[in-house]
Amino acid sequence: MPLPTNDQVTEALRGVIDPELRRSIVELGMVRSIEIQPSGRVEVVVSLTTAGCPIRSHFEQAVAQRVGELEGVTEVGVGFDVLSNEEKGQLQQTLGRGKLPQGALAKVKNVICVSSGKGGVGKSTMTANLAAALTAEGHPAGALDCDVYGYSIPRMLGVNAKPEVNGERKILPLESASGVKVMSIGFFVEENAAVVWRGPMLHKAIQQFLEDVAWDELEYLLLDLPPGTGDVSMTLAQLLPQAKFIVVTTPQPAAQSVAARGAEMAKKFDLEILGVIENMSGFTTPDGERFTIFGEGGGQQLSDELDVPLLGKVPLSEPLREHSDEGTPLVISDPDSPASQAIRQAVRGIIAMTPQELPVLQATPAMAEMPAIGGTPLPVVQVGPGA
Ligand SMILES: Nc1ncnc2c1ncn2[C@@H]1O[C@H](COP(=O)(O)OP(=O)(O)OP(=O)(O)O)[C@@H](O)[C@H]1O
Ligand SMILES: [Mg+2]
Repeated sequence: MPLPTNDQVTEALRGVIDPELRRSIVELGMVRSIEIQPSGRVEVVVSLTTAGCPIRSHFEQAVAQRVGELEGVTEVGVGFDVLSNEEKGQLQQTLGRGKLPQGALAKVKNVICVSSGKGGVGKSTMTANLAAALTAEGHPAGALDCDVYGYSIPRMLGVNAKPEVNGERKILPLESASGVKVMSIGFFVEENAAVVWRGPMLHKAIQQFLEDVAWDELEYLLLDLPPGTGDVSMTLAQLLPQAKFIVVTTPQPAAQSVAARGAEMAKKFDLEILGVIENMSGFTTPDGERFTIFGEGGGQQLSDELDVPLLGKVPLSEPLREHSDEGTPLVISDPDSPASQAIRQAVRGIIAMTPQELPVLQATPAMAEMPAIGGTPLPVVQVGPGA
């Protein structure tokens, strides 16, 4: 039986898709070598972004299957190595990473993504309260709502208006009563209107929030991420290679694998995970009786797994929810309540772990020549000189 050609093997490898990047390993430049032996054995070496790549076994199986289906192949050997930093840079280029212009966010000292693998664990609540608490402690913070479909930051921080544009054509963030600079897709759409953007439009909106908003000088810009590791997380990972992540989780140990999935994505892109916040920890009655409604130990377990600190354990708290619904963050209205104290403890941890001098987001030379990202610009109100 004739042996397959190199091209045929390459063609077969186009069917091996990176599940997160949703592109084939050929397109991503992850096929290091193909060797076709006279016996019909084919050796393929795949380059991974990190040695401990969680989807390694997926690639192994998929390569063996695709190549094994070719006529003349008797056996498939799959080997792995790791992309060099230069090659990772090229991969990022392929992915269109890093199209933030020079100087965008240059006065923002720390960008922190608040994420989790699953919904409803309190990402938005934490983002709003952390931003308010940071600002209250003298560290000016912004909150960027990256949850385009389920935006909730405007409500939680009690701000809603159509943002204006300044003379330099930058969108002005709104300011909450607690002094937090806020930006959300919710400011641009009719109340409760569903946002049905996908892919490029979503990407464009997020990119605009980062580069076309006059964030100005901020010590912290907190990004409220949608649940999971979808399009938005991908976009952010691409645009903000120096962002840090906080993973929010609930205490039940079973939730950890889901939360860890979000963290894997951060790892894959070499993004730093700052720590874990356990939310909805035990509930304490006014008499001091404690109920662990969502189980116990999940936050510690996840932070051990990720080898990062557990920044705080925020108890279940009706006032925390009520104040979120009213747009008055509990950390400001009642800074001594148990939930506020836990959040303020997390804030101290964040401050201790983040540099106060260096601007983090400057386009690096490798990113300069990226193709522009398409999409539809946000509808904004034009005011001020030059508008
Ligand atoms: N510690 C807590 N105690 C009581 N209620 C809480 C607590 N944390 C969050 N909540 C409430 O739980 C609900 C979900 O919280 P939130 O919207 O912050 O989660 P999320 O992770 O951002 O959700 P999504 O994945 O949908 O964006 C909200 O009604 C919020 O007020
Ligand atoms: Mg949310």
